[in-house]
Amino acid sequence: MAKLLTIQGGKPLQGTVKVRGAKNLVPKAMVASLLGSEPSELRNVPEIRDVEIVHNLLTIHGVKVDRDSAAGHMTLDPRETYSAEHSQIDAYAGDSRIPILFCGPLMHKNGEAFIPDLGGCRIGDRPINYHLEVLRNFGAVVDKQPNGIHISAPKGLKGAKLELPYPSVGATEQVLLTAVLAEGITELKNAAVEPEIHDLIAILQQMGAIITVYTDRTIRIEGVNRLSGFKHRAIPDRNEAASWASAALVTEGDIYVHGAAQRDLTAFLNTYRKIGGEFEVDDEGIRFWHGGKALQPLVLETDVHPGFMTDWQQPMVVALTQAHGVSIVHETVYENRFGFTEALKRMGASIQLHRECLGSNPCRFGQRNFLHSAVISGPSELKGTDINVPDLRGGFSHLIAALAAQGTSTVTGIEIINRGYEHFIDKIEGLGADIDISAALAA
Ligand code: EPU
Repeated sequence: MAKLLTIQGGKPLQGTVKVRGAKNLVPKAMVASLLGSEPSELRNVPEIRDVEIVHNLLTIHGVKVDRDSAAGHMTLDPRETYSAEHSQIDAYAGDSRIPILFCGPLMHKNGEAFIPDLGGCRIGDRPINYHLEVLRNFGAVVDKQPNGIHISAPKGLKGAKLELPYPSVGATEQVLLTAVLAEGITELKNAAVEPEIHDLIAILQQMGAIITVYTDRTIRIEGVNRLSGFKHRAIPDRNEAASWASAALVTEGDIYVHGAAQRDLTAFLNTYRKIGGEFEVDDEGIRFWHGGKALQPLVLETDVHPGFMTDWQQPMVVALTQAHGVSIVHETVYENRFGFTEALKRMGASIQLHRECLGSNPCRFGQRNFLHSAVISGPSELKGTDINVPDLRGGFSHLIAALAAQGTSTVTGIEIINRGYEHFIDKIEGLGADIDISAALAA
């Protein structure tokens, strides 16, 4: 049943939260297990909806998945896979974008794959043209049908020379998951090099793949005939860590994020320090808190790794509503990731959106009709309001704003946040927030 979250804001969040494996790695590691001829073991698996979706999709393809959810352990046995009914795939895929990554592994295993219409957060058009183009280059035949895409490899899959128009994370993963068992050598130029990609490469290497990453964003994969299983501990979720860090700043709180890794947060931590946040790193995690002085405005541009990640943008915009002066945020990864600012404006924030590339470098959205730059003037006193969650990161950012705001906020659509934030209600409560959860009344 749909839930209604009521938040009495204005209390600093204080205490410890634990982050486990990255939402943007774990489901892909699970898909990689399909490529093996032996079982795999994955650790640090969070209880989030994207993991449930992939668990179900693997199960209907014959993979035996055993899971100790509390411990975060999962074993995946792909020794008896088969094709699944289209209607079943459609039913289990939910609104996730992960099904597209089943293409290569299923073609290697079963000769074919079916991809239902894809979901994911509504933060732009989110096309899959790069995915389909690289798959065609490997020799796949793509057949668009009314309810999805049927894809097959009647002549097998062969390594190819590829170049992405933009360093897409998903398309790079698509190439990796397809090339490792394709015949011959694949060379991918302009690849994404996010930490989650490196972790996926580590998994594939354990399975027997031969993959080289060059400094110029080129990845070379030498296809092999057979892959075994892997035993791997997923890297921590750097996006969840950054979200809690922003929550500490905005609520003037103090949060220790157990499990956060500094290595994958360099660009975030630089920005955090410049705006006035403090942090302290130890072997187990990172403590984040408000430095006590007026927060500083800044000019920020999202980018592919190693730049400031787009998923950090939304929580950071909430923090910038509290900075003293004018900040500029230029979103260069997704064309439509500022929709969440509408609710912030209703809460009292001063934010103007612009079609121009403001701040620094022109991006690929500059000549098009997208509101992809934001000018934020602060500080603004935020007041509680009624919010319907628009997307994963935007939704969490609304929670942060509501937790800092004066008065009461009611939040619907919080199920979206379960896609990527494990036990977030319990965590917020554990940090001392004044919240209440009840059944939402039908509109
Ligand atoms: N793009 C295309 N065509 C394609 C693929 C991508 O034009 O075929 C464009 C996208 O529209 C976007 C850009 O390329 O403008 C980058 O998209 P990318 O493929 O890198 O994103 P993704 O793989 O779909 C993952 C994460 C996102 C994260 C991005 C960028 C997962 C499941 N999702 O998406 O995470 O923002 O990489 O790092 O890994 C989130 O966690 O909230 C989230 C949206």
